[in-house]
Amino acid sequence: MLLFKNNTSSPFPCNFLFGTSSSSYQFEGAYLSDGKGLNNWDAFTHKPGTIMDGSNGDIAVDHYHRYQEDVDLMQIIGVNTYRFSLSWARILPKGKFGKVNKAGIDYYNRLIDALLQRGIEPFVTITHYDIPQELEDRYKGWLGPRIQEDFKYYADICFKYFGDRVKYWVTFNEPNVAIIRGYRSGLWPPARCSGSFGNCSHGDSEREPFIAASNLILSHAAVVHLYRTKYQKKQGGRIGIVMNAIWFEPLSNSKEDKLAAERAQSFFMNWFLDPITLGNYPAEMHEILGPDLPSFSRNDKQKLQRSGLDFIGLNHYTSYYAKDCMLSACESGKGSSRTEGFALNSPQINGFTIGLPTALDWLYVNPEGMEKIVTYIKNRYNNTPMFITENGLGTIEKPNSKIEDIINDVERVEYLSSYLDSLATAIMKGANVRGYFAWSLLDNFEWTYGYSIRFGLHHVDYATLNRTRRFSALWYKHFIAQHSNKP
Ligand code: NOJ
Repeated sequence: MLLFKNNTSSPFPCNFLFGTSSSSYQFEGAYLSDGKGLNNWDAFTHKPGTIMDGSNGDIAVDHYHRYQEDVDLMQIIGVNTYRFSLSWARILPKGKFGKVNKAGIDYYNRLIDALLQRGIEPFVTITHYDIPQELEDRYKGWLGPRIQEDFKYYADICFKYFGDRVKYWVTFNEPNVAIIRGYRSGLWPPARCSGSFGNCSHGDSEREPFIAASNLILSHAAVVHLYRTKYQKKQGGRIGIVMNAIWFEPLSNSKEDKLAAERAQSFFMNWFLDPITLGNYPAEMHEILGPDLPSFSRNDKQKLQRSGLDFIGLNHYTSYYAKDCMLSACESGKGSSRTEGFALNSPQINGFTIGLPTALDWLYVNPEGMEKIVTYIKNRYNNTPMFITENGLGTIEKPNSKIEDIINDVERVEYLSSYLDSLATAIMKGANVRGYFAWSLLDNFEWTYGYSIRFGLHHVDYATLNRTRRFSALWYKHFIAQHSNKP
């Protein structure tokens, strides 16, 4: 691995976007400021026992007040884009059952303008897990079909107020993870679980994750359709979705394990991407779930096919092994008949480990997974333009660490560098990848792990909220300088 490459011929195409990613709940804080309403994550984190270190996003990294300083940090790195999300409850505190919060609109206008003034393209996620608590209460979140109308109403406001300057729109961040954690394992709001998973008490049936997913998929289609018909021509932007993209490596060369890896992917990512691009769920899902899989009406299918997407965003961090298994083995292991389709998935199976373990139980370092997942998406979805919307390494800060240890994040540099190398290989072999975003600009609130896991190119001292540049930020600056191709 070369830390600083000298070559001038870059594999990254002209106008490739290099950026960093963030999300409203993990960054903004200011959870009750200037008229913002409560969202599902505010309510969830305030319940004892939901977050490992007992923390919440009330203050987070205070991006709401410090965005200017953070945009300066971006400019120093030399990124040409910034991916962030809009807080639905900051814009519509009570969803469509209340008024637009002008202060919320003003905040995002200030952020967007600050970015553009420094030549940084805003790349905006409409919903990154957080939804107004009002809608969670009224509909049990994505379980209620009426949320489709609410999402459309909200997205319309976003396009109307920001679409003159925002040219990249993402409807949802990682709906696959939101649905699995919210409606299967119960680890995230609305904390419903089904089948043998999780230890929460709600959850009416094993169909819930599929019902919630179906409402979300139709919400995506409705919003893409809205954008295409009302805004796209005038505003000239593009719209897509972002999926959590794990590479599933068959444990052996057997046909069974290869099929198990396919099924795992279908039940994880294609579950959403197939209907959105092709109008129907993957064949494996139909075969295994039968009538338990909610069906799309002819009208829905038409809507899905008509809407589609302009790009696919992939958040790629890790790979898992996939192994064929019988129903009973699946249920007792990490896989499930219902969600992975008779496939056992894990970074470790039968004594085999997919890559180097990290501080996070779900994250194993396997750079080849990047080339493989990008190539898989290229082949399955007709080389639709792709962005790597997230990639990064989470670490733990040891107690009493010295400042040198905190900023000298060689592990992170090795991780990012090796994954970017692998991405470059996929691009050189013809994958239509248009951008890459490191997760994340700053340490931030890592959901169930609270502040104990750090992903930042900059360290955040949570007592003072001071930002300190890590080695990885400097390394990324050099990488971008050497690999940016202007026409
Ligand atoms: C993906 C999610 O979009 C983001 O919110 C999260 O912090 C990172 N993965 C790291 O787990």
